[in-house]
Amino acid sequence: MSKISLAVDLAGFHLRNPTMNAAGVLGMSPPLLKRVYDAGAGAVVTKSIGPVPRTGHPNPTLVQLSGGALNAMGLPNPGVDYFVDEIAKLKELGVPTVASFFGGSVQEFAEVAYKLTKAGADALELNASCPNVAEELGMLAADAGSVEKVTAAVKDETRLPVFVKLSPNVTNVKTVAKAAEWGGADAITAVNTLLGMAIDVNFRRPVLTNVTGGLSGPAVKPVALRCVWEVSQAVEIPVIGCGGVTTWEDAVEYLLAGASAVEIGTAVMTRGVEVYGEVVRGLERYMTKNGFSRVEEVVGLAHEAGRHTESRVDKCNIRV
Ligand code: DHB
Repeated sequence: MSKISLAVDLAGFHLRNPTMNAAGVLGMSPPLLKRVYDAGAGAVVTKSIGPVPRTGHPNPTLVQLSGGALNAMGLPNPGVDYFVDEIAKLKELGVPTVASFFGGSVQEFAEVAYKLTKAGADALELNASCPNVAEELGMLAADAGSVEKVTAAVKDETRLPVFVKLSPNVTNVKTVAKAAEWGGADAITAVNTLLGMAIDVNFRRPVLTNVTGGLSGPAVKPVALRCVWEVSQAVEIPVIGCGGVTTWEDAVEYLLAGASAVEIGTAVMTRGVEVYGEVVRGLERYMTKNGFSRVEEVVGLAHEAGRHTESRVDKCNIRV
């Protein structure tokens, strides 16, 4: 029997298995992210880092809902210059690190990418899709032309693999994914949170200070899975699935839809960091039981089934 390997390669970024935390969950403190890695994740992703310190939105910034969580933090972060030392600590701890980052202009994105590269990050995730700062910074992922331009500017400043994280809050996610690919993206992360809101019936006001926020957790999984399905058909580069992964079955669904890896975020709130090891062990069992020896053999398989359905229709001589 051949030995199973869970390792994946995302444009030269090697992961021991196809799981990471989603940006934002557990912040950016090296000891916390090390716990994610020790619990079994293949690599870690930092909270998004910007050009200068930001305090973010006032509380309340998070509301727990039956199907997940709604948050509007407003991209609080200590700024890239502070973060240089934190990356060095993650490196010392031996944790493969994807630095998530954002900017308010093409130049800011490029400048932050340059600094994170110099600081020693292993890969970059370009957050084109924060739903909570639209009025102030705009939501980059709403405009394919801007996504291409920013991605190209970032690629000019770094030799690292760049994953562009897209938003589900668009009419056509494939067009935006293509634009990122044309700009030189090495992978697409699909997707960020879904724009939503909650109202307190007693106060008769929106719960979040920001009024709207990003929905994450099990409720968004079908939407995010559909985005992965569509994006993986539209681009040649790898896709990283993100949205509501809680169990190993969720992760396998994403692989079958065309993702080469998955990010797990909100599930940490309900299952703790142990969720990474649980998903990885479940995936390994699934591969053993079904005779797969490498993760990439699973990637996109559900699309093949689609083609078989077409041929069955042909065989049945159905005329349309
Ligand atoms: C925030 C950023 C995000 O990218 C997201 O999906 C949700 C919240 C934030 O910091 O507000």
